[in-house]
Amino acid sequence: MAYEDELAIGVDMGGTSVKIAVVKGIDIIERAEPVPTMDFGTPEAVFGEVGKRIKALQVKYPDLKAVGMGLPGFVDHDAGMADSLANVPGWYDVPARRLLEELSGLPAAVDNDANCMAYAEWQLGAGRGMKNLVCLTLGTGVGSGIIVNGQMLHGHMSAAGELGQMSIDYRGRSGYYKNYGALEDYIGHRNLTADAIAAYAAAGLTRSEEDCSPLGLEKAAEAGCPVALACWDDLARKLACCLVSCHYILNPEAFIIGGGVAKAGDWLFKPLREYVKNQVYAKHFAQLKILPAMLSNEAGMVGAAAMALREAGH
Ligand code: BGC
Repeated sequence: MAYEDELAIGVDMGGTSVKIAVVKGIDIIERAEPVPTMDFGTPEAVFGEVGKRIKALQVKYPDLKAVGMGLPGFVDHDAGMADSLANVPGWYDVPARRLLEELSGLPAAVDNDANCMAYAEWQLGAGRGMKNLVCLTLGTGVGSGIIVNGQMLHGHMSAAGELGQMSIDYRGRSGYYKNYGALEDYIGHRNLTADAIAAYAAAGLTRSEEDCSPLGLEKAAEAGCPVALACWDDLARKLACCLVSCHYILNPEAFIIGGGVAKAGDWLFKPLREYVKNQVYAKHFAQLKILPAMLSNEAGMVGAAAMALREAGH
């Protein structure tokens, strides 16, 4: 049976909650109630709660073949360890794969959350059939997964593909790792919102956080608000800076962009394509795809499940 027809558990951990579901191909068959990440203190306690949900699903679906999990930070895929998670304090050197295997009795795989999203888009989504692609997810954190010559790029210490940490300004903001001008510190949700509030203030207007959320800014752009339009243009320009550099380093066939900010559709993608086009050799741009992700918010769970199945030999 093709791995897309097998059942597996996909787990997608975020700073707020851990999502768990039974997955088949790109379909979510059943979701467990999410585990609120910060309510359970230690990693062991979080895995305890995740384990209860997984065991309940195993009773209902005895055919489950594997479990995969994405975590938001440095994950050593080969060693099965969560090394350090940005935005989730206290998660250092957690043997995530072993914990999953012990609690479920199933073969498990763990990786960075954006790598799982990239795996899903590559194997089952917008990047199907491609050998070279870069997937970005734009949320509170900005993450990415990179596929080179038909293989996920993990790097020497399994920390490759952290485009959220890529500098777009060597004199820019000082980031999480004291790195200057990290993309995430400009286009991550929180910064996008803070910068939009400041842009409105500079225009003599007061706007709430909600007005300046990606959805609020999308609505304002639709209504023709020049400040919101300028915010989208600015975001596109910053993201283009990252894509153009990646293009020169990796020459991918496609950039696939998902996450909350990417839902803005043309408000983002139109100026983004323009800014990239203006900075790339024309013959190369003609062959470069800049695409919205296909699998939306479920991509993390779908990719983790698919990765676990493939690595278990399905
Ligand atoms: C982390 C990445 C993660 C991304 C999305 C970033 O803050 O550094 O490792 O993939 O958020 O959760």
